[in-house]
Amino acid sequence: MKFSMKFSMKFILHLISSSYVLGSILSSKVGVEDLITSVSGYEGSQGCVDELSRVKNCILTATKENIIVSCNNYNTNTCQSFYKNPMNLLSSCSSNNFVNALVNSSVNLIIRDLKIKCQKDETGNECPLSEIELNIEESSNTDILNAINNSCKSKICRENTLEFLEYTSEINGKASNLLQSSITQITGAGTISEESLNSVLQDQSNNNNEIKSYIDILKSNNCSYSFREINFNN
Ligand SMILES: *[C@@H]1O[C@H](CO)[C@@H](O)[C@H](O)[C@H]1NC(C)=O
Ligand SMILES: *[C@@H]1O[C@H](CO)[C@@H](O)[C@H](O)[C@H]1NC(C)=O
Ligand SMILES: *[C@@H]1O[C@H](CO)[C@@H](O)[C@H](O)[C@H]1NC(C)=O
Repeated sequence: MKFSMKFSMKFILHLISSSYVLGSILSSKVGVEDLITSVSGYEGSQGCVDELSRVKNCILTATKENIIVSCNNYNTNTCQSFYKNPMNLLSSCSSNNFVNALVNSSVNLIIRDLKIKCQKDETGNECPLSEIELNIEESSNTDILNAINNSCKSKICRENTLEFLEYTSEINGKASNLLQSSITQITGAGTISEESLNSVLQDQSNNNNEIKSYIDILKSNNCSYSFREINFNN
């Protein structure tokens, strides 16, 4: 029991730590399986785990290997109606504040990530952020910046990328508060040091500044200009 609690704590910290928040940009390694693992460490979470398993196909993180399957699922009526209000089908996950916040933000983030990957641009091509996520193992800041700039060339890519980044930024702030307020509950016997918590929070704050700079680019007049110009030339 002790072991599995520790195990899941590590996952939870990982999930809401910066690497997860940016994970989706930097080719995501965390998906629904990790979320289920994290949640299953909580008492009384079986209902939530069962519900997550039932909608698993709709929140399969899209990778280079499974993109066709993930996006086929993404486009089904069942998944599209799940996306409209995901927590409706995950009501057992609301019994605990921490699990609720974790599931809600993770699921919504995965959905926005799928949207970038599964909705192609106006000419049927992959959106720039999706392209680096799927093809580059460890994207550099320059890769990401280029992809953000290139997203300006398509209305669809720009909007979906903006939606993803704005959501990421929103839950990033919430995750910091949640971490701080539930840390006694999570740590139990004090497995997580204040030092490591502070370093997670510091990473999040750094990443949030980076994310905000990407949001600024996508919202700037230059960005829509480049989009208008492309369309005008067509
Ligand atoms: C899920 O999170 C969104 C914001 O990210 C919030 O508006 C919504 O109320 C949350 N739903 C539940 C059930 O907590
Ligand atoms: C992105 O676009 C901005 C504004 O046009 C420009 O200043 C910046 O150098 C570009 N960055 C890259 C990596 O292309
Ligand atoms: C928009 O482009 C101009 C000229 O290329 C540049 O000076 C300015 O910094 C850009 N603005 C933003 C917000 O990127």
